[in-house]
Amino acid sequence: MSEIIHATSVIATKRDGAELTTAQIDWIVDAYTRGDVAPEQMSALLMAIVLRGMDRREIGDWTRAMIDSGTRMDFSGLHRNGMALPTVDKHSTGGVGDKITLPLAPLVASFGVAVPQLSGRGLGHTGGTLDKLESIPGWRADLSTAQMVAQLSRVGAVICAAGADLAPADRKLYALRDVTGTVESVPLIASSIMSKKIAEGTGALVLDVKVGSGAFLPDEAVARRLAETMVSLGADAGVPTTALLTDMDSPLGLTAGNAVEVVESLEVLAGGGPADVVELTLALAREMLDAAGLPDADPAAALSDGTAMDTWREMITAQGGDPDAPLPRARHTDDVTATTTGYVRRLDARAVGDAAWLLGAGRSRPGESVQAGAGVVLHAKPGDRVSAGAPLYTLHTDAPARFDGARRALENAAVIVPEPPSDTRPVVLDRVRFE
Ligand code: URA
Repeated sequence: MSEIIHATSVIATKRDGAELTTAQIDWIVDAYTRGDVAPEQMSALLMAIVLRGMDRREIGDWTRAMIDSGTRMDFSGLHRNGMALPTVDKHSTGGVGDKITLPLAPLVASFGVAVPQLSGRGLGHTGGTLDKLESIPGWRADLSTAQMVAQLSRVGAVICAAGADLAPADRKLYALRDVTGTVESVPLIASSIMSKKIAEGTGALVLDVKVGSGAFLPDEAVARRLAETMVSLGADAGVPTTALLTDMDSPLGLTAGNAVEVVESLEVLAGGGPADVVELTLALAREMLDAAGLPDADPAAALSDGTAMDTWREMITAQGGDPDAPLPRARHTDDVTATTTGYVRRLDARAVGDAAWLLGAGRSRPGESVQAGAGVVLHAKPGDRVSAGAPLYTLHTDAPARFDGARRALENAAVIVPEPPSDTRPVVLDRVRFE
């Protein structure tokens, strides 16, 4: 006789610290997605998972159940000039100033690799790739699967919104986690990210797992556990997966916002840009090209000789954008100056992300509109020398009433010391891969 499963028994199983069975997981994920389990019941289960955890088999089952809630995409038939195109995607766990997808997708695609980059919008202090790209006049995020396939075959790079049928269980669960304090959990983050990436049908995957104050999981040991969990989930699903653990204690580059981050990405594509953004773009590009069977490709050359920029222009144009149109600028700016002379030892990523959000670059509720020109431009990074009275940040917004909140968020963000710091962190902290 088959077991009778109901929401309260599933909640009680996890509350009491036991393993959920495969049947319990399949049932509750499906029933919640269809609306047969109430949000308060799912909230209780999610909190029990946050507190009690899940083992590898449970995480695998939870991930598969979320994939099975929708349809799987399949890019295995992509061809160009009669040749099969390998597909590789990158996913970041989310950070401040993390515009890497913008230069990275066209850079990797310029080597004949297809990069199907399904991205999200920002929520809270972390920015969203689609919000950044939507600051480009005419650019649109919503493509049908047929349009995606056509663009992947022709241009190689697509950055667009995930369709409603890609892991719909995760979409519903993520919205609930966001308002019930249940985002910060290794099993829940790993299954959320990997269900979407496996359902998307990429041939290989490179993960950028953030560590530090601006990351969802600031602690390095926990971030490493997240990376290992996701790499195993990828391997189990037949998607070769590599993770880089990277620093998110200070923001990436010198900008956090929307159009300001596009400007910085264009600098990278033109062969310049801040050193940390270039370093991380190249590190991830090498991993992606290696995963696509091109270990000897030289991504630095494609940035300096304009090949990656050509692919960027094609990618933006294919999605209705005008790569030559001036980008929006905020109507008001305000400088925040250093109070002492010395060297920047720390620049808190979380505080900069909060300031950009308060200036209007992000949203506090799904569906809210964002300001294209809002954000923070940094004038110094950890290790740089600053003088009292010189600008540390320039705040950008269309609504000057927002300056006060952003200034408050940044009050203790920079730690300035008299001597050059000897403990600035490298951008790439480690690599996780199971051979
Ligand atoms: N990004 C996701 O897609 N899911 C999470 O749970 C956290 C970050």
